[in-house]
Amino acid sequence: MTRHKIGHVEDLPEGESLGIEVDGLEIAVFNVDGELHALQNKCIHKQGPMYDAEINANEKTVYCPWHYWEFELDSGEFVVDRDKRLRTFDVEVNDDDIYVEV
Ligand code: FES
Repeated sequence: MTRHKIGHVEDLPEGESLGIEVDGLEIAVFNVDGELHALQNKCIHKQGPMYDAEINANEKTVYCPWHYWEFELDSGEFVVDRDKRLRTFDVEVNDDDIYVEV
C-alpha cells in the first residue's frame, strides 16, 4: 500500500465529492460533514460514476447517480445486499493535503 497525495482540502469542501485516478484505479472521494471517505469510482451495478453520487449525510451513504443503488460510505456495502460492496480506501488529511492509500 502506498499513500498518494490527491489534492488540497480546499479542493473538496463539505458536501462535495471528486473523482481521481491513482495507479490506474478510479476513486471517488467524498467530504461528508468534514469526514473524508473514498470508494471505488465505478459502481458495481453498471459502472456508474460514483464521484457524482448523491450524498445522504444523515445515513452516511451515497446513491449511485444512474440507478440509485445506495452504498455505505464507511464499508462500501450495498445496503440492500451486504454481500455486495464497493471497494473502500483509507483517506486522510495531513497539513491540509489529502492522501489516499492504494
Ligand atoms: S450503475 Fe450504479 S446503480 Fe446502476
